[in-house]
Amino acid sequence: MTLTFKYIHFPYTGSTNDDLKELAQKGAQEGTVIRADAQTLGRGRRSRVWSSPPGNLYMSILLRPQGPTDMITQLSFVSALAVASGLETLLPPPHSLHLKWPNDLLYQGKKIGGILIESQNHGTQNVDWVVVGIGINLISHPEGTTYPATNLLAEIHLSLNPDRVMNTLLNALDHLYTQWKTEGFDAICQRWCARAYGIGQEIKIVSENETITGTYLGIDTQGSLKIKLEDTTIKTVRSGDVFFKSLDYTNLNIED
Ligand code: BTN
Repeated sequence: MTLTFKYIHFPYTGSTNDDLKELAQKGAQEGTVIRADAQTLGRGRRSRVWSSPPGNLYMSILLRPQGPTDMITQLSFVSALAVASGLETLLPPPHSLHLKWPNDLLYQGKKIGGILIESQNHGTQNVDWVVVGIGINLISHPEGTTYPATNLLAEIHLSLNPDRVMNTLLNALDHLYTQWKTEGFDAICQRWCARAYGIGQEIKIVSENETITGTYLGIDTQGSLKIKLEDTTIKTVRSGDVFFKSLDYTNLNIED
């Protein structure tokens, strides 16, 4: 195993990612973990608010991988896979968890967790630190989100202790982080694809600059999403939000 965890707990805070970024700047060691019972300024990807009442899991982990900045994209897949495979070990069979590109956690197509990766680099060749922020909807979820959300208690009547979930996820992350460092990204990439939700389905990708539709083919070796457009060209996409045509979105017109 690679990581030595140093655990800090707050009853509440603004954002565990903000707290850990501050510690990272001051030289905190790899493996420093912050968990809060609740957050007042929880953040998601694309500066969205991450609703953070008590009872759910809010945690951030500090990693200091040695190497170029493309490692950060890979780490986002390592983290998502660790969260999905770790949390699934706590669910009674046959319940399973899937991944939505790039790093959302889904239960039966609905979002139950997300990951916010933030980092600092020296140029393009050296990662200084990476903060992996993880939020899991254990007992509640926000209403009215563009992408439908849910929580584990509502879905399978299971009330998991956030501390226990954190420990399980840290073990899973340690295991996969070690595997990634020793064996590289290929095996992680394959395992991520095996857990991906909706490969082969019609999707819509909404990014800042464009909206495209086509057939979801999976991810490439860089972690970019591969989509086959109507004219059969294959395009790779590096960032954006994925919506599946087969799901019912009350807060989004998927035909737009
Ligand atoms: C997303 O799906 O948009 C990512 C959500 C990440 C939320 C977690 S909760 C712990 C950490 N602190 C934050 O402010 N955000 C992340």
